[in-house]
Amino acid sequence: MPLHRRFTAKKALFTLLVWLFIALVLHLKAELWDPAPDPTPASTDNIQTRPAPLVNEIESPERRTAVVVASQRSENATWLDEYFPQWEKNIYAVDDPTAKLTVPVNKGRESMVYLTFIIDNYDDLPDNVLFIHPNRYQWHNDDPDYDGLPMLRRFQIPYLEKEGYVNVRCAWALGCPNEIKPLQEEGEHRAAVHAGGDYKQAFEVLFPGQEVPKAVGVSCCAQFAATREKILERPKSDYVAYREWLMGTSLEDSISGRILEYSWHMIFGKDAVHCPSADECYCKVFGICNIKCSEQGSCPGRYILPPYSSLPIGWPYVGWDREERERAGPEQ
Ligand SMILES: *[C@@H]1O[C@H](CO)[C@@H](O)[C@H](O)[C@H]1NC(C)=O
Repeated sequence: MPLHRRFTAKKALFTLLVWLFIALVLHLKAELWDPAPDPTPASTDNIQTRPAPLVNEIESPERRTAVVVASQRSENATWLDEYFPQWEKNIYAVDDPTAKLTVPVNKGRESMVYLTFIIDNYDDLPDNVLFIHPNRYQWHNDDPDYDGLPMLRRFQIPYLEKEGYVNVRCAWALGCPNEIKPLQEEGEHRAAVHAGGDYKQAFEVLFPGQEVPKAVGVSCCAQFAATREKILERPKSDYVAYREWLMGTSLEDSISGRILEYSWHMIFGKDAVHCPSADECYCKVFGICNIKCSEQGSCPGRYILPPYSSLPIGWPYVGWDREERERAGPEQ
């Protein structure tokens, strides 16, 4: 090999090594001494104009809460808009086929509404759903004034999120500890308001393959709440089947509605008898703790079973004998 070519090769190798050394020094300088560049310069505007989001905002965005209301044209649920603007409202008018939200057939009282909501919204359910009746004052609201406002204001959403299903009532009258004895009462025709005689047969259709319970108990009146996760534990086809039973049954509405009233807790995974003691219930469900209750099913001053199911005109300022009445709690 000629001398000048060997020299050139050596020189080239040397030059390459020098360049590599310079590159290494520059790289180390950038890594060790220079301030770190902003990896996402586009986001600096955001950082300057609003504070960094809290971890909670990112990891658990606010959960959606909705009310599903089984209403009639004669009833008025506007107080829910006034006091609970943050909740989604689904007010169904069962007797108005032209209403924005209505039911395919007006049968089975509130249960047709509750099932229709679940079926129609199964793929996009709110996180928490309260299934309730429309009027602010109703005899079955668990409040000394039968007022739904303090009842819903106090309702403990975090407890619902833990439980999946919560009955919005603690007093045992009516419904607990064992309103219906499906086996003992089968075929019986007691008052038109008692579903015991028809319960067993219905249960066998609603819950195929499940053993019919000897006793069913839950505090009355079909106002309860369930989480999205709990509702989704059953396939949509279950809810469709319940509604088909309701649409097809020849039972009176008072009976078919009541059969479902005494089934929701089992649909949502509770035992056939679901009767927590009233004091524990008031504390967990409504945050009313430290009350002394001598009975398992009632606490003083909380709820008195009224003499009639229609409240007097003028309630809560007019009492049962048309006397003037003082509210137990504030109006607002
Ligand atoms: C419904 O109740 C509200 C009060 O909450 C009242 O202002 C409104 O007039 C009522 N609407 C009807 C149609 O009765």
